[in-house]
Amino acid sequence: MIRLTTKKFYITTPIYYPNRPPHIGSAYTTVIADILARYYESLGYEVFFLTGTDEHGMKLFKEAKNKGISPKEYVDSMVPFFKRAWESLDIRYRRFIRTTDPDHEETVKRIVMRIYEKGDIYKGVYRGLYCVECERYYTAKDLVDGKLCPIHLKPVEYLEMEVYYFRLSKYQDDLIRLYKENTRFVLPAERKQYLIRKIEEEGLKDVAITRPRWYLSWGIECPWDSDHVLYVWVDALLNYISGVGYINDREKFEKFWPPNVQLIGKDILWFHAVIWPALLMSAGFELPQTIFAHGFLTVNGKKISKSLGTDIDPIDLVNKYGSDTIRYYLARAIPFGEDGDFSEKDLVRYHNDELANEIGNLIYRVLTLTERYFGGITPEASRLTDIDKEIIGELRKHLNEYHNFMKNLQVHHAVMRTIMFAQTINAYLNKTAPWSCWKKGDKDSVARAIRNSLDWIYVLTAMMYPFMPRTADKISKQLGLDSIPRLSDVRLIGNIKPGHKLGEKEILFKKL
Ligand code: MSP
Repeated sequence: MIRLTTKKFYITTPIYYPNRPPHIGSAYTTVIADILARYYESLGYEVFFLTGTDEHGMKLFKEAKNKGISPKEYVDSMVPFFKRAWESLDIRYRRFIRTTDPDHEETVKRIVMRIYEKGDIYKGVYRGLYCVECERYYTAKDLVDGKLCPIHLKPVEYLEMEVYYFRLSKYQDDLIRLYKENTRFVLPAERKQYLIRKIEEEGLKDVAITRPRWYLSWGIECPWDSDHVLYVWVDALLNYISGVGYINDREKFEKFWPPNVQLIGKDILWFHAVIWPALLMSAGFELPQTIFAHGFLTVNGKKISKSLGTDIDPIDLVNKYGSDTIRYYLARAIPFGEDGDFSEKDLVRYHNDELANEIGNLIYRVLTLTERYFGGITPEASRLTDIDKEIIGELRKHLNEYHNFMKNLQVHHAVMRTIMFAQTINAYLNKTAPWSCWKKGDKDSVARAIRNSLDWIYVLTAMMYPFMPRTADKISKQLGLDSIPRLSDVRLIGNIKPGHKLGEKEILFKKL
């Protein structure tokens, strides 16, 4: 029997704390995840894309208390902000997981129970410092001026309580081996070097994974001791298991586990590259292939915060510029992995220079020429010339590099190759100058230049789809196609048949 196996791609974003509506920083990770999900989908992979909200813990409990409502009422009221923002940015997640979902709670209990039964959890006393905003422990030397959390610059709390610990230290050698042997487990590579250095210098300490109920009741109950609730980070990390159907859709879980790419911000690397794989090793799960930690965005050079007014609402931006321009800008302007700055001035510049001038003009130009000389019908043309072959060589190089960059998560370079692909077609038109050939009565050259350009715009549309799904859809309609070309099907010649009628042309990007 021939068994057809489809390749799969499972990608995750962090789950966001819903104590604030999303801002451009959280939108950034989610947009890049959507771009990668659409890329693999267009290549014919079966894709599962998970995002959601992290709803337990002290921070949310306190915010709800301040508002005089229950924590659950509070998180219920905040989740729609995320769903609306993601919808406006055309984020096509396959599941939006909430850590208050019943299947998540059940999954967490089962998995921590497994770790407990294995002997990797013991009772002890925690004495130390904690930042409620980060929901994480600090040691005095991590703090700014000896008292402030280095991320939020707010005072940390001193905690002293009975807790259960996870034996993280037991996994130190396995983790170091993992980083050294599996070069793609933590990316970019500098971040991995940092982890190796830190662990080798300081050693791994066991980590508290429960809270006594008298201190915090808003969380998942510890399955072997009802006087404790689980630490919010352990609860949150396990969303990547429950979200893909561990309890409620076993077939899906078996198909997609383990994650291929887990995107995170650099501030939560420790949880994802140290605690998370150790929990998985302990519970006996296959490890994710890649944890990719991107940099931090500032807005006009300033930290994103409510008080500075830099917590721009992504929905406002979409209303002003359209989702494709925002998606394009985020992928194009910030080298993925590094810190970057979001500025509307830059966004407008990229929109005008690259989207309107390069891509928009190219498509308008080719459709106009086809209309003028061939009544909007793809012409028949004779064999390829040397110039055509040379251009095909260049385009092939851009397309191959585009794929390499996407597969290596260098999304910004993949966008660049898309622009270079469009520039190459523009240069080809300038070189072959079909308008002059027409004047000279050389109809065959006109037909060849137009047929080739249309074929290449077809490929360009497939390349653009992951970044700009709306634009790809519009171009496909203008090309008279029933659906958006897929990256798995495109060729450098022969995509559009002679006699094919194009659709109505329309300006794709108005200059801002
Ligand atoms: N709830 C945890 C994640 C649990 S995942 C199992 C959390 N939530 S968060 O809402 O505080 O942050 C979510 C993500 O947003 C993190 O990856 C964080 O790095 C990212 N960002 C927050 N501010 C950011 C910027 N200014 N720029 C880029 N990403 C930013 O941590």
